[in-house]
Amino acid sequence: MNTPFQFGKMVSGSHFTDREEPLKLLSESLLGGISTILISPRRWGKSSLVHKCMNEVFSLKTNYRIIMIDLFRLRTEEEFLEAYATEAIKCSTNKIEELLLNAKNFFKTIIPKITFSPGSMGDFSLSFDAKEIKKNRMEILDLPEIIAKTKKIKMIVCVDEFQNVLSYENSSALQKELRSSWQKHSNVTYCLYGSKRHMLSVIFNDSSSPFYRFGAVFFLQKIEKKYWIPFITQAFDRTGKCISIDHCEHIVNAMQDHPYYVQQLSHLVWIMTEKDVDSRIVSSALDQIIDMNKPFFIREFELLSVSQVHFLKAVCAGETHLNASEVLNKYSLGTSGNVSKNKRVLEQKDMIDIDQTIISFIDPVFEIWFRKYIL
Ligand SMILES: Nc1ncnc2c1ncn2[C@@H]1O[C@H](COP(=O)(O)OP(=O)(O)O)[C@@H](O)[C@H]1O
Ligand SMILES: [Mg+2]
Repeated sequence: MNTPFQFGKMVSGSHFTDREEPLKLLSESLLGGISTILISPRRWGKSSLVHKCMNEVFSLKTNYRIIMIDLFRLRTEEEFLEAYATEAIKCSTNKIEELLLNAKNFFKTIIPKITFSPGSMGDFSLSFDAKEIKKNRMEILDLPEIIAKTKKIKMIVCVDEFQNVLSYENSSALQKELRSSWQKHSNVTYCLYGSKRHMLSVIFNDSSSPFYRFGAVFFLQKIEKKYWIPFITQAFDRTGKCISIDHCEHIVNAMQDHPYYVQQLSHLVWIMTEKDVDSRIVSSALDQIIDMNKPFFIREFELLSVSQVHFLKAVCAGETHLNASEVLNKYSLGTSGNVSKNKRVLEQKDMIDIDQTIISFIDPVFEIWFRKYIL
């Protein structure tokens, strides 16, 4: 029998729980024409949320078209612009004959090369001359607006892992053009989301950044226990197995509500269970999840400096005023300059999340491992 839990990819249907509030916020904001920025650490459920939201919008509003772009796999500006143009043209029609026509007619200066994937006429991609594309990127960036206006439709452009634009060569020039193109559009709304709170904060909150105050910013939270409990019990139920509320709580608490890990640990418990979950199974699944990640954690740990390890120990102890002189001394944190630097580095390494004054580990399993073997 297949596991009722899913992790490591986008989830939908019976694998998706809760998110009523953020779904409502996101769709109201986007349908209201407000570009929206969604931020959370990785594996908390942004991509799943945006896809679900877009599927709902798409099924309810026939005059909307959705463009989905994922910068995770688009490593250069050219790749990004080519994918952007391709998706925009794909959105312009669902008739194959018209696709070809649109691919020619919607461009003024640049001439796209069109490639169809073998076997499926609908799947095609556009490519451009590298020099041309850089000179005329505005033409590509304005494409969704031009198509929307011509076709009398509305578009929503979703860009996943948006902070990756920072890694493109000449990123600030591109960002300036993105902003100046996008802010003129009245038929297209943008949904930009990503996993690096610090990088995204620089993009959207720094007054010298081209994307300063581009739209409404939401921080997606983890999924609350009150949603996890019925989600897990029903998944066991459906598959002829049984789990008590206490054991569900144990799973959810151990994983600190983390969406990916709650699903993974539930899955491990499910596999080990023949009929009824007992405490022995839950603790051995917990050991297993730590073991599976151990080699990776050790590698991460070995890259930390001594003062970064001290910093993490202070975080484990729940210290909030790391700059206070007794805390600096107690944990050998060095100067407050060292503390600020380590905070920044550990945040960039995706080890800690800083939410205003609260510092926490991003990875709950790493935290368990750290407490068990390092403290
Ligand atoms: N709404 C949800 N309900 C249940 N599990 C979820 C939900 N959203 C995310 N997850 C879990 O988290 C994992 C990561 O989700 P994903 O959407 O890829 O996160 P992100 O885009 O933030 O990295 C999924 O594979 C799934 O296990
Ligand atoms: Mg994602």
